Amino acid sequence: MTGQNRKLRSADWFGRTDKTGFIHRSWMKIQGVPDHEFDGRPVIGICNTWSELTPCNSHFRELADMVKHGVYEAGGFPLEFPVTSLGEPMMRPTTMLFRNLASMDVEETIRANPLDGVVLLAGCDKTTPSTVMGAISVDLPTIVVSGGPMLNGKFQGRDIGSGTDVWRFSEDLRAGRMSCEEFSLAEAAMSRSHGHCMTMGTASTMACMVEALGLTLPGGAAIPAADSRRRNFAHLAGNRIVDMVREELKISQILTREAFENAIVVNAAVGGSTNLLIHLLALAGRAGVPLELDDFDRLGSHQPLLLNLMPSGKYLMEDFYYAGGLPVIIRELGDRLHQDAVTVNGHSIGENSTDAVCYGNDVIATLQSPLQKEAGIAVLRGNLCVDGALIKPSAATPELMQHRGRAVVFEDIEDYNARIDSPDLEVDESSVLVLKRVGPKGYPGMAEVGNMGLPAKLLEKGVADMVRISDGRMSGTAFGTVVLHVSPESAIGGNLALVQEGDEIELDVKGRTLNLDVSVQELSRRRAAWQPDPPHTERGYVSLYLEHVQQAHLGADFDFLVGKSGSAVTRDAH
Ligand code: FES
Repeated sequence: MTGQNRKLRSADWFGRTDKTGFIHRSWMKIQGVPDHEFDGRPVIGICNTWSELTPCNSHFRELADMVKHGVYEAGGFPLEFPVTSLGEPMMRPTTMLFRNLASMDVEETIRANPLDGVVLLAGCDKTTPSTVMGAISVDLPTIVVSGGPMLNGKFQGRDIGSGTDVWRFSEDLRAGRMSCEEFSLAEAAMSRSHGHCMTMGTASTMACMVEALGLTLPGGAAIPAADSRRRNFAHLAGNRIVDMVREELKISQILTREAFENAIVVNAAVGGSTNLLIHLLALAGRAGVPLELDDFDRLGSHQPLLLNLMPSGKYLMEDFYYAGGLPVIIRELGDRLHQDAVTVNGHSIGENSTDAVCYGNDVIATLQSPLQKEAGIAVLRGNLCVDGALIKPSAATPELMQHRGRAVVFEDIEDYNARIDSPDLEVDESSVLVLKRVGPKGYPGMAEVGNMGLPAKLLEKGVADMVRISDGRMSGTAFGTVVLHVSPESAIGGNLALVQEGDEIELDVKGRTLNLDVSVQELSRRRAAWQPDPPHTERGYVSLYLEHVQQAHLGADFDFLVGKSGSAVTRDAH
């Protein structure tokens, strides 16, 4: 049975004539819900990550209202619910510590309630992967409404980008090139409207990712949050999710291996964040789609960079939207993508982008004349990263892509903070900065500290980049010759833990290697003397996290969350 005749999942709650059905309907009527809402129409959950502690998502109540209009218009019954929201600029020690927790909230809330389909409202970095991870593990018809980027930052007559210019301003302040007053004035100039970071940081990367995966209506990734078309986009998603329920188009039918490969290729073309890897690996693990770290290099590293956005380029998401948005990139990539991959609107990604027109060739380049011939993420191997590490060449300094230097080692972030600006630090521009204990278990939560700032005395000399290595992540808005996600991490005894001051390290991005030039015998000696740190805590959520989080090359999901449990709940509550 299909369409209107099929018994919906929500009928197990609202379609019953017994005591249990009475309870489900009666308490819903507290909200003024009339009887006809229980007549078998699709019940649509609107999963809202609104929070004043997540400023990037602070317009989501209005977006949820737009989704509701769309759901009602299409004959559905919308029910909005809150889930754990993760505010990137606020949460300590790092939102990544809570991504899996938020995904559990999403998964269990969807499954436990009378929902036939779900609209995920997501914007700030972790709110997209956490909601999608949770939804995958339930596997109902699902559509994502991304919240949209902020308008371009404007400061002293030029455009400034979220995050990217914070790193620049911060270095300028430390080097005395910027006053404290200017630094303060730049705050409001950078964040002047609703929306998420408008560089190609992690939030924009995630918005492009869900569009490339086929989880959003086409063209949505770049629409500014403040643009009325963002609200229109939400309304249309509300329309569409009702039909997706009628068509039984589940998220598992969208998230095929081909969809994941498309997301990798698109990420290279847009100069997306290194954070894509850890989130896409986690999504694939939930979906049961085989995906490995090396797939990102094999499929993505030879793709051209087509989008001229900070931090790899000069424009911002608002410019991307006016230039035509992601459909232009998808059309331009042609058969580099699986153009027949199905999307939430029932059409293929190729069909959705056929009519895309580019209105700004300086913003979106062509395949014939790309901004860089090879973008994407390079995956490194070697004795420093047996299970892999990665670097984003498009954000790095070409001259440092092949480099040998002496290690300056920081045992943890506190050690780094205490010594980086010391005049006594023995460091020069050829040194390799090494930071330990910032991986999934080491921080814990794998913080975005991998793009550690340069020593003050080198900044004063005008040094702009150095090779930096850690088991942490970096913000998608950051840049530099930064090796990240070293796996296994130092906290569990990866060779990163054994690096000592003055060791020679060799990075060869072209050869895809990262090696510590220390003899096997010496490494064995150091390993024998190595002791793990005591656990950060033995209670609460963090204890659960430390016990179950997987390494970066596996997506840092909890081992017990990999896969899905479906939507069935066999027992009543009453
Ligand atoms: Fe929320 Fe950047 S801080 S998207």
